[in-house]
Amino acid sequence: MNGDLHSHPRAHPHAIFRDWTAEMLVTELTDDDRKWVQERTELLFGGDFVVSRDEVHDPHRLPGYIATEGPERIGLVTYNLTGEDCEIVSIDSLCQFMGVGTLLLEKVEEVARAAGCRRLWAITTNDNLDAQRFLQKRGFVLTAVRLGSMSKIRLLKPNVPKVGYYGIPVRDEIELTKPLFSR
Ligand SMILES: CC(C)(COP(=O)(O)OP(=O)(O)OC[C@H]1O[C@@H](n2cnc3c(N)ncnc32)[C@H](O)[C@@H]1OP(=O)(O)O)[C@@H](O)C(=O)NCCC(=O)NCCS
Repeated sequence: MNGDLHSHPRAHPHAIFRDWTAEMLVTELTDDDRKWVQERTELLFGGDFVVSRDEVHDPHRLPGYIATEGPERIGLVTYNLTGEDCEIVSIDSLCQFMGVGTLLLEKVEEVARAAGCRRLWAITTNDNLDAQRFLQKRGFVLTAVRLGSMSKIRLLKPNVPKVGYYGIPVRDEIELTKPLFSR
């Protein structure tokens, strides 16, 4: 998740709501998935790139994981490893509140630990209460708030909406970090 992360239209685009019955698989993102990742980024983040800590990232060019149920893709996560840090650049669950996000996050945490990272971090926006809840309940703590930074991001991404989830104005970036201690 990252910079602008995190703004999106008010309703989660193309979310699927239904009973969770079948088996879900989490597999490494392959070249066949990249076009879809790019499309999802555009839908969710108002452009096919995201900005975090003043850096531009293309999720569709990054490593990541895809969640599938049968032939259907139901979630994705992309990440960026830099030294002891691992950034969740984007995480996107098409079946919210059914465990998809948790499985994808756990997968990246596993990769980050294996790579010797000491921190997992992500950025969301002030309106994204679901993501803030999701991350804080999974060990992330607030480590920075960039007040008003979304105006600057809108210069690069004019499609980032002014009003986000729950009708909340999208103004600030919120950075959350999870320390990874060796087990
Ligand atoms: C944030 C996001 C990735 C979370 O994904 P998710 O698939 O909804 O996450 P999960 O289902 O694993 O967990 C969400 C909640 O659903 C609950 N849940 C999981 N399985 C469940 C089930 N079978 N029935 C009911 N609730 C369930 C979890 O307990 C969790 O609640 P908690 O946070 O109180 O513990 C998702 O909301 C999303 O894609 N948002 C849009 C994009 C976005 O904002 N990305 C992140 C920007 S930083």
